[in-house]
Amino acid sequence: MKKLLLAFSCMCAISCTTTSDSKVLSPDDQLNLNLDVSANGTLLYSLLKGNDTIVSPSRLGFVLQNGDSLCRDLQIADIKYSAFDETWQRQWGENKSVRNHYNEALVRVSHKPSGREYLIKFRLFNDGLALRYEFPETFSKDSIVIMDEVTEFRIKGNPETWWSYADFNTYEKEFMHNRLDSVSWAATPMTMRKDNGTHMFIHEAAILKYPDMTVKNMGEGRMKCELTPWKNGVKAYVKAPFNTPWRMLVVSPDAKGLIESPMMVNLNEPSKIAPSDWIKPMTYMGIWWEMHLGSKQWKEGKMQAATTEEAKRYIDFAAENGIGGVVIEGWNTGWDKWGQEDAFDYVTPAKGYDLREVAEYAKEKQVWLIMHHETGADIHGYEALVDSAFALCKELGIHAVKTGYAGGVSTGENHHGQQMVEHYQYIVEKAAQYQIMLDVHEPSKGSGLDRTWPNLMTREGVRGMEWEAWSIGNTPSHTTTIPFTRGLAGPTDYTPGIIDVLLTAKQKERTQWNDQLKDISQTRVHSTLCHQLALLVTIYSPLQMAADLPENYQGHPAFQFIKDYKADCDESIVLDAEVGEYIAIARRAGEEWFIGATTNENSRTLNVSFDFLPEGEYIACIYKDAADADWISNPAAFEVKEEKVNSTSVLTLPMAAGGGFAITVKPCK
Ligand code: NOJ
Ligand code: CA
Repeated sequence: MKKLLLAFSCMCAISCTTTSDSKVLSPDDQLNLNLDVSANGTLLYSLLKGNDTIVSPSRLGFVLQNGDSLCRDLQIADIKYSAFDETWQRQWGENKSVRNHYNEALVRVSHKPSGREYLIKFRLFNDGLALRYEFPETFSKDSIVIMDEVTEFRIKGNPETWWSYADFNTYEKEFMHNRLDSVSWAATPMTMRKDNGTHMFIHEAAILKYPDMTVKNMGEGRMKCELTPWKNGVKAYVKAPFNTPWRMLVVSPDAKGLIESPMMVNLNEPSKIAPSDWIKPMTYMGIWWEMHLGSKQWKEGKMQAATTEEAKRYIDFAAENGIGGVVIEGWNTGWDKWGQEDAFDYVTPAKGYDLREVAEYAKEKQVWLIMHHETGADIHGYEALVDSAFALCKELGIHAVKTGYAGGVSTGENHHGQQMVEHYQYIVEKAAQYQIMLDVHEPSKGSGLDRTWPNLMTREGVRGMEWEAWSIGNTPSHTTTIPFTRGLAGPTDYTPGIIDVLLTAKQKERTQWNDQLKDISQTRVHSTLCHQLALLVTIYSPLQMAADLPENYQGHPAFQFIKDYKADCDESIVLDAEVGEYIAIARRAGEEWFIGATTNENSRTLNVSFDFLPEGEYIACIYKDAADADWISNPAAFEVKEEKVNSTSVLTLPMAAGGGFAITVKPCK
């Protein structure tokens, strides 16, 4: 109540003067937002945590095509304050119960030369700041053509930064780690740590009808919003009334808090789909890894992977081992024409693959068949056929589709631009109509839309496991960085769980199928086996792939962890973490817990306290690196051990270089 009073007293101050500054506090009073208007009418915001400046005065506003610079000659017309506190439930998520608690200031801004008015909504949470622009209906009857959004985050100090280069067409990138002054142009989430230990990340929420944002370093810590452009240079065409996505800065005292922040999902609208039994988190396998290894192909012919027989083998294996779903890639025609317009057919099965028979078989075995639609980024071709493709799924009782957008967009636009954002959203809503869950590869950026559209289960948008099969691969620190960078943008289909880390099984049958490497036989997975198990937990995805081949899992003692793992988690707790170094997370599914921990190239020992357990005795099954394990020289060496634990237990668990551990914790019966 105190905060509210304070906020309202600010409003009085504001309404008396047009160039005055204003303050808003977070519910716990720790974060302090200040607004100011400079002499030339530039609207500036800054953010403090206690006495520590997080964001120095930073610009807001737009440049429009008609020449209006909605970032100068501004004045604050009025400010409305409010507060909000609600705990809501979701059908799936890292936490099914989410608290949304903030203080809000809605600022009406007027552009003196044109007399036009727009709004900026600020929300201050205990874990950070969000702001968005709102164009009311009165702003314009015509399309608003945005040439530039000038929002800045002027970061104080020169924090350590984890980032990937802003590429308008792919998020499949390595991460860099240096000081902010060495960052040129970054995708978001961009993660920072100040010398005083404060952790932060810049990102955005609820990207709809608007392009993905990148942030460009303009010097002196000024990270300026650069929107992914249309090919004609325009950033966005919008029609009032219109709200932009939320620009957000999460602030946390430690690395854990970055992952635990619910701000992004809170900034999205409530679900438009009532809880439904066709929306179901699960682990899945698939006819997939062999194509990436090059021992089979997507195309019809001698090396075709997807045959009726092979699909049934996967379905049998999934049914026997409690794996919920199976994706079959290369099931349809068109792969030989990849890259051409209208190449893919989403209803006609390849020769040797009887879709109806496979679908029927999967149903009998109670395994969910996951359809695959590689579009080759031919969006018009896909939009023309999507109704018939989804209708076929409905007819066959298929409730999940993995989509793919590999290659340049057929229209010549950027993958992360407004046209593609609108395309992806069109497909999400279309899928919901047909009761279909989506796993989107080569997507635009995650921004928490899965709150509103819970059929949007997961997306790739990461340099995932496939790179380990045909390129120099991913480093161990890549997977200890993802939870603090790409992972902050929501569920990530990394496709983990390769236990044949040296890729020995198919070595002799492998052929070169892309031009990433001269010699494909040099590839391997860059971690220990236990690190691979732990990735199921540390890189969250409600559709979680166990990506290895059935023959590699069959009879392997480490496979038990994957069999036991439940992707439908209720609650998540980050036990210990340092960005890029290591991470340990516990996730609860019903009465069971799953713990995953990974380390980068450095070996280290973690003391895991089980104080998160409710009262009672539990049995922990621990999969850990053997004493002589090492990701380079001895990656497959591991031990399995059972131990009784309760809420007072603390286990000391070593991890090899590039290693990790995975634990199942079940109540003693
Ligand atoms: C790239 C996707 O990331 C991968 O999972 C898929 O197998 C290929 N495209 C083919 O669609
Ligand atoms: Ca990909």
